[in-house]
Amino acid sequence: CFWVKNLTLKKRLPGPFAWPLVGNAMQLGQMPHITFSKLAKRYGDVYQIRLGSSDIVVLNGESAIRKALLQHSTEFAGRPNFVSFQSVSGGTGMTFINYSKQWKMHRKIAQSTIRAFSSANSQTKKSFEKHIAAEAQELIETFLRLSSNNQYFNPSHELTVTAANIICALCFGKRYGHDDFEFRTILTKVNKFGETVGAGSLVDVMPWLQSFPNPVRSIFQSFKELNKDFFTFVKGKVVEHRQSYDPEVTRDMSDAFIGVIEHADTETGLTEAHTEGTVSDLIGAGLDTVSTALHWMLLLLVKYPSIQTKLQEQIDKVVGRGRLPSIDDKSNLAYLDAFIYETMRYTSFVPVTIPHSTTSDVTIEGLHIPKDTVVFINQWPVNHNPQKWQDPHIFNPSRFLDETGALDKDLTNSVMIFSIGKRRCIGDQIAKVEVFLITAMLIHQLTFENDPSQDLSLNCSYGLTLKPFDYKISAKPRGSVFNEE
Ligand code: HEM
Repeated sequence: CFWVKNLTLKKRLPGPFAWPLVGNAMQLGQMPHITFSKLAKRYGDVYQIRLGSSDIVVLNGESAIRKALLQHSTEFAGRPNFVSFQSVSGGTGMTFINYSKQWKMHRKIAQSTIRAFSSANSQTKKSFEKHIAAEAQELIETFLRLSSNNQYFNPSHELTVTAANIICALCFGKRYGHDDFEFRTILTKVNKFGETVGAGSLVDVMPWLQSFPNPVRSIFQSFKELNKDFFTFVKGKVVEHRQSYDPEVTRDMSDAFIGVIEHADTETGLTEAHTEGTVSDLIGAGLDTVSTALHWMLLLLVKYPSIQTKLQEQIDKVVGRGRLPSIDDKSNLAYLDAFIYETMRYTSFVPVTIPHSTTSDVTIEGLHIPKDTVVFINQWPVNHNPQKWQDPHIFNPSRFLDETGALDKDLTNSVMIFSIGKRRCIGDQIAKVEVFLITAMLIHQLTFENDPSQDLSLNCSYGLTLKPFDYKISAKPRGSVFNEE
């Protein structure tokens, strides 16, 4: 009957008691993804928390996440109307924008343009690989310079420059030196981006925090400034491209976007501002994630020197010392691939996806979730489920190899870091190529060592990406690559 049906529909999702005004905000702790995983043990994989004025559904575990993002893909494909999201990419990107027909077209354009410049045919593949190899070579030289006179250095910034240059080369046809002042300054600030847009960021759920001086307000002010500076930088480059645009010659991705969005035969509803927003989104998404992946990998190489040695032995056997590694070596470097997958699984450095929201009422696992509910997708427990992963808290790349030493594809597919469904990362393929080739070149040519005065920890700060605390290493050359020729 109506009342019973209505009562069922209105049944509150399970979840912890929420305090007035703040809800559960004070219980999130330093590592919200761990808190969310602990709450799942008590309340199940789908539960509700309250942060400030927002009821938020948290999804944990492979089965619940798959049901939501694959079986109800459209219902879970929205983005919340958060105040912080409006500052990103001038509000005209596609990452922090809600689901709509226009957004679908926008995402498709971004996706096919990335493909056209990285993997569409053997020529684009080669040219993308050349960009990456050039950056990796520059990074190796920079690391050797920073290690001269037995010095130890913090690799964080150089990794950001490398990742930024690869995506800038794709978008602008241009790279920037490690010492370029304007570029360095912008990148230093962008590093802070993830603090504010990560799941659990307070300014979005307690907008009143903006009205009096407090740490959240000052972080939000810097967030708005960094987005403004970054967007101004990107917009300047796109405007230059627009002025010299020649429909006969597509120099880079900016030209491609100008062509598809501004000179399209079919009506897309997208404008010049969307061209700028798209480029800004891709550079932003492509630099923080890839540089964080590399940052973790270097840390793990010095933390586990025997793994570093094993990687070097395999690469020397497959590639030799007479040439540099290339993407074509990938199929013979299963242990390196395993190391990369294990880094993604073990660190789960994008622990929770960018917040989603529901585009209509939806029921999963018998629980009703109304339209416009904010949804956090916690990827971390998927990668640490003891039923799936033996000793999940131990770093062990070999878990991804079968008895013959080949990569176990079923297992690598079980690592969840790029999300799934309609909002799945559109840069996953290029990210994997970048991370593989850079790591291959680094370990082929250098040996990384820990600064003995530092107690190496795996502690990190939480945000959209988990960033390891600062650490120092040195890089020793492994001898000239071309000696044996
Ligand atoms: C979205 C992970 C690299 C472009 C995302 C999301 C995750 C993610 C978790 C959010 C998905 C969701 O909300 O459900 C990663 C990781 C990377 C990486 C781990 C590197 C290892 C890249 C690169 C690019 C890129 C290199 C592009 C150049 C994007 C875009 C979105 C996105 C445009 C927004 C998709 C949408 O809202 O529809 N990524 N990403 N990502 N990523 Fe990546």
